[in-house]
Amino acid sequence: MILTQEDLKRIAAYKAVDFVESGMVLGLGTGSTARHAVARIGELLRQGKLSDIVGIPTSKKTEEQALSLGIPLSDLDAHPVIDLSIDGADEVDPGLNLVKGRGGSLLREKMIEGASKKFVVIVDESKMVKHIGGSRLALPVEVVPFCWRFTAEKLREVMEGYGGCEARLRLGGGGERGEEAFVTDNGNYIVDMYLEKDMGDLNEVSDAILRLPGVVEHGMFLGMASTVIVAGELGVKIKNK
Ligand code: A5P
Repeated sequence: MILTQEDLKRIAAYKAVDFVESGMVLGLGTGSTARHAVARIGELLRQGKLSDIVGIPTSKKTEEQALSLGIPLSDLDAHPVIDLSIDGADEVDPGLNLVKGRGGSLLREKMIEGASKKFVVIVDESKMVKHIGGSRLALPVEVVPFCWRFTAEKLREVMEGYGGCEARLRLGGGGERGEEAFVTDNGNYIVDMYLEKDMGDLNEVSDAILRLPGVVEHGMFLGMASTVIVAGELGVKIKNK
């Protein structure tokens, strides 16, 4: 049987839900892969195979999905320590560093997944790369809307020291042809950095980006994943930190 990419996402997601136990506080990820995990948790709750779960959603979209499934929800203020978070990623390198945020939820994801005792990442094999940010995808940066052009230019200048990039405002927030800026759940914009080559020392790049006033957060999740579940044509691989 030939498996579609959607099948692989579902397989990885279901495998991750095997780690869920009754009574846990769970970080609920965002995106097309995490969606399968949230659906599975809802199904197991409905069947009575899980109970006493509290979900902490990483986006308004996930919140809506979880509510529609009857998953009890809360937030980081009430639950500053999360037992387990499950989420997808756009890229994963061999050291389990990630790029996230194509769905625009990187800030809440980083807050919630950073507060988790265990962070399980679920991907299909197309997400595995040698160097994050060095491939076809952009590295997203959440910025405040105030003078975003200034911040985008500063990002471009900073990245000159790390191989260079083109910095573009993410669109799709509205307008007849989606020509308005995409707005995050936190009311911010996203600048997508299209990198020209590998960035080199990721921690150094991370610090340099975060030092810029106007930047809220970036989509590199360095050293945060405890486990990555990769579903491929030949089966599931589990990579631990
Ligand atoms: C949401 O902002 C993202 O971080 C997603 O978790 C990531 O983009 C993976 O999404 P897919 O599972 O849809 O590829």
